Amino acid sequence: MHIDRIEAKSILDTRGRPTIETTLFSGTLEATASVPSGKSTGKHEALELRDADDSVAQAIKNVNGEIATAITERDFNSLDELDNFLISLDGTPNKSRLGANAILSVSIAAMRLSALQENMPLWQAIAKRAGTTPSTPRLFVNVMNGGAHAGFPSNKFGTGKLPFQEYLLVVEGKTSETFPIAQELFAKLGELLWKPGVHNNCGRLASTTSMGDEGGYAPTFDTLEKPFELLAELVKEFPNTSIAIDAAASELFHDGVYQLLGKSYSPDELAAIYRELVERFSLHSIEDPFAENAGTDFAKLTATLNSPSTPLGATTLVVGDDLTVTNPARIIEAAKNKEINAVLIKPNQIGTVKEALEAVRETYNAGWEVVASHRSGETSDTFIADFAYGIGAHGLKAGGFAQPERLVKYERLLAIEHEAETR
Ligand code: PGA
Ligand code: ZN
Repeated sequence: MHIDRIEAKSILDTRGRPTIETTLFSGTLEATASVPSGKSTGKHEALELRDADDSVAQAIKNVNGEIATAITERDFNSLDELDNFLISLDGTPNKSRLGANAILSVSIAAMRLSALQENMPLWQAIAKRAGTTPSTPRLFVNVMNGGAHAGFPSNKFGTGKLPFQEYLLVVEGKTSETFPIAQELFAKLGELLWKPGVHNNCGRLASTTSMGDEGGYAPTFDTLEKPFELLAELVKEFPNTSIAIDAAASELFHDGVYQLLGKSYSPDELAAIYRELVERFSLHSIEDPFAENAGTDFAKLTATLNSPSTPLGATTLVVGDDLTVTNPARIIEAAKNKEINAVLIKPNQIGTVKEALEAVRETYNAGWEVVASHRSGETSDTFIADFAYGIGAHGLKAGGFAQPERLVKYERLLAIEHEAETR
């Protein structure tokens, strides 16, 4: 591959914050990619380069300057060679010199460019590169947003708010069937949350429902169980539909305890809450149930929830996000200690497509599931949908339905499915 020219610029994400968009030009072809941005970011993630004024001016300068000069001067035999070149050009363990956002924008645009050159749909080019079998992921739709995604600073959780970051509905099947089901569920939930009096038994204050960062509702409940009771009521009519959460527990962890709804819990007490929620509401998965360095607590919960001898069954996924940060080495470590049984894959946590695919490989080597994921600050780039389909992910987490930047990912899945069926 030869890249003739590179052009990076600033665009805004769903929170109105600047992020990077890069276009690569090669002959008559061009390919563009933009990079999302997290809020509840893990400490072990690769570095998103931001300036003191919150802009990404330096990251853009790095792409248009140093990266452009270095990569337009040579030919690359493969995308892996290009990604390795970017990694060594940066030269730091966490891409802090050039910025993981700067590097990933080039890495994704190059993947797109290569698919165009091969005249192949992106998902197919990803599958070919990864050696995976493409398939439709379950939709993980974030219908109620809480925690850091509902406007709270991470150290100030008020009482009466949703303590967990994400309350998701998981819908399994072909996207042409799951998308309308998820859409109907999202609309029904909206009616329940906005109409005063409809769900008084949930202790909900209708006037306090707003929208969260990921395009889901951000309501208020007075107990931990009530949001689950509401969702359980909602999904019971729909086949192949279940409830999941992302606790994002690094955000709840202060001074050695977890703080939820104004009370403090030890790791064991929190584990007991999860067990009860799994038992009562048949949770499909729990993401980041403990803080990012609490691997031992993860391992204990994974063993409990997946022991065939418990009445809980052996099917609950314990998903690592801040724990594993799409980092192959951290996934290998988690596998050694049996800490989890599923991994969230977010390419911008690691900074190149090559390393994100390595993370996928290590996850599959461990015999675990992959959930591909967007970030809470998103753009209209749909790469993650092609990625999820191409690697045959268990699920795709792309947010709620109230933001176009989330919807385009689900809509891209629909288009991919059609493309795959008609090829
Ligand atoms: P983030 O949240 O993008 O703010 O990190 C998403 C998640 O925790 O899964
Ligand atoms: Zn998460």
